[in-house]
Amino acid sequence: MNHSILVVGSSGQIGTELVEELRKIYGNSKVIASDISKPSNSNLEFFEELDILNKEQLLNVVKKHNVKEVYLLAALLSATAEKNPKFAWELNMNSLFNVLDLAKDKIINKVFWPSSIAVFGPTTPKIETPQLTIMEPSTVYGISKQVGERWCEYYFNKYNVDVRSLRYPGLIGYKSSPGGGTTDYAVDIFHHAIKRGAYECFLQKNTALPMMYMPDAIRATIELMNTPSENVKIRSSYNLSGISFTPEEIAEEIKKIIPSFSISYKPDFRQQIADSWPQSINDSEANRDWNWQAKYNLKTMTEDMIKNLVPVLKQNKN
Ligand code: NAD
Ligand code: SER
Repeated sequence: MNHSILVVGSSGQIGTELVEELRKIYGNSKVIASDISKPSNSNLEFFEELDILNKEQLLNVVKKHNVKEVYLLAALLSATAEKNPKFAWELNMNSLFNVLDLAKDKIINKVFWPSSIAVFGPTTPKIETPQLTIMEPSTVYGISKQVGERWCEYYFNKYNVDVRSLRYPGLIGYKSSPGGGTTDYAVDIFHHAIKRGAYECFLQKNTALPMMYMPDAIRATIELMNTPSENVKIRSSYNLSGISFTPEEIAEEIKKIIPSFSISYKPDFRQQIADSWPQSINDSEANRDWNWQAKYNLKTMTEDMIKNLVPVLKQNKN
């Protein structure tokens, strides 16, 4: 490969793991990490400090490394965005325009931009939510993702921009921390279970949400990006399904490994956000177009999370 790939927002929950996986495939020097904040692991090799809202800086990085593919991960997530709606709109939309315009001008060839289950709203059918359905998001984050999807499809239709997207469910991984979403409880719960044996959940016990283990999400991203262009039939964003569970169900699964674990519930403003989202997702279009299939279920994810998170937390303590 004589060009390189740029990951924007590489210090975040997904970026940390995506960069690692892309580098395994393409080599370190071919995958340029970039973020407004330095990575916590202080690995600054092939890292560029970049504010995605600064078009000139972005163009300089793209030219410097002969970037032809961009994975745009910088955004404010659902809970943080509700605290600063205007800025969330500015960051989530203008970052997308800055990258899509590079592709429109043929400076780069391919774009990955994640959407979310947050594109759905209280009027959407909640169970096995289909690809095409009512979408009336009630959060600023969801509105930005829904509009972003429309712009992706528009740039594909009007300017032949090769943009690909997934509606990620809530993502759970042990290598990085989540950055201000409503589904973050499903990562926090593992940290608290291992460190303290107890967790106070900010959602009610029966709140079912679509979730996915990070290895599945990273695989889905790379599989979609490697699918021949003619097979990518959906240019807004693909539904993507992993596991659906409630806080009570994941707590029960954790108790099978840490029997003394206890959970209590103190719902806050994020409950309303969660209540507006689907409980499970139908992703048959992803399966039809690029053979997508998740591998992890609640049991296998919980076992793998605890097995891998215990040594990570031990190392951080030392
Ligand atoms: P995150 O908050 O963990 O990471 C986002 C990163 O973007 C951070 O490292 C932050 O420093 C960086 N950033 C913020 N402003 C920037 C700027 N101006 N310029 C450059 N970098 C900037 O988020 P994440 O969980 O990794 O999510 C990545 C993408 O995936 C987002 O678009 C998010 O909406 C989407 N998504 C995530 C989830 C999930 O559960 N994590 C689910 C659905 C969709
Ligand atoms: N995990 C994300 C959030 O909770 C969903 O996009 O904001």
